[in-house]
Amino acid sequence: MVDLKSKVCIVTGASGGIGQSMVKRLSEAGASLVLAARRQQVLEELKANMPNKEQILCLKCDVTKKDDLENVVNETINKFGKIDILINGAGVSSQHPFWQQPLEDIEKVMYTNYYSYVMLARLVVNQMKEQGSGHIVNITSGSVMVDPPPRNFIVYTSLKVALRAFAKGLFWEMRDFGIKVTSIFPGVTRTPLTGKLKDVSVDSNLLMEPDAITDTVMFALSQTGNVNPLELAVINQQTPWTKPVIPFKQAHPVK
Ligand SMILES: NC(=O)c1ccc[n+]([C@@H]2O[C@H](COP(=O)([O-])OP(=O)(O)OC[C@H]3O[C@@H](n4cnc5c(N)ncnc54)[C@H](OP(=O)(O)O)[C@@H]3O)[C@@H](O)[C@H]2O)c1
Repeated sequence: MVDLKSKVCIVTGASGGIGQSMVKRLSEAGASLVLAARRQQVLEELKANMPNKEQILCLKCDVTKKDDLENVVNETINKFGKIDILINGAGVSSQHPFWQQPLEDIEKVMYTNYYSYVMLARLVVNQMKEQGSGHIVNITSGSVMVDPPPRNFIVYTSLKVALRAFAKGLFWEMRDFGIKVTSIFPGVTRTPLTGKLKDVSVDSNLLMEPDAITDTVMFALSQTGNVNPLELAVINQQTPWTKPVIPFKQAHPVK
């Protein structure tokens, strides 16, 4: 098991399916944790069952709000004095033909899935730079490997593609300061997020479990020295949604 006893880690989306799985494993590895999400009650219940609960801080945070993100960073420094790992995991989905895309969803997906990742990275990098080390992990999406982006998912996917590009650029800029950057590309995973989608749970037995994503995150965090796993895809080819990834074939337009 990876030893993270001396590490301080912020996790956004900690109350979600993938988030809760990551928190359990990070806690077992001994990390001090700052859990951020809007549903603080869910975070507190999660914390209560963790092995090192005295080393866990739960913060109510709407990641679409800059003040809330600044508060997460400030509270982390106040309590633990440093930030070793940032796991950006908060996310929302919106599955619609573009012409029917709810207008408010465009803003929600942009701010949750892209803005919060970039802003929080910006808010932690100077602390990491001062420390001479750090690791930023973005939970991106296997959909970035589908080109053109999947039908009914182009807002979500195009923002994940932008996030992928951002992380690659961030890696270039930050490596000289000892800061690592990793993008995780999950395939379709059994969480409340996929439960809301229409066409991915045809046979829910084929969905991946969140622990598969956590395994990959822990692999990234276990790499020492100058090894930087830049992009890790965990794809389940059996699910309908990820089937188009390899090979990709979309239906012809409906006349
Ligand atoms: N599940 C999949 O198949 C899959 C595949 C590819 C990529 N992903 C990505 O994996 C990440 C986690 O997804 P998941 O499947 O675990 O989803 P989930 O179970 O629905 O969890 C979503 C998490 O995001 C948080 N969140 C959403 N909006 C927020 C906001 N405005 N402020 C703060 N937190 C917010 C939620 O917390 P609160 O509601 O408590 O605020 C929750 O913790 C997302 O980035 C998603 O795009 C998932």
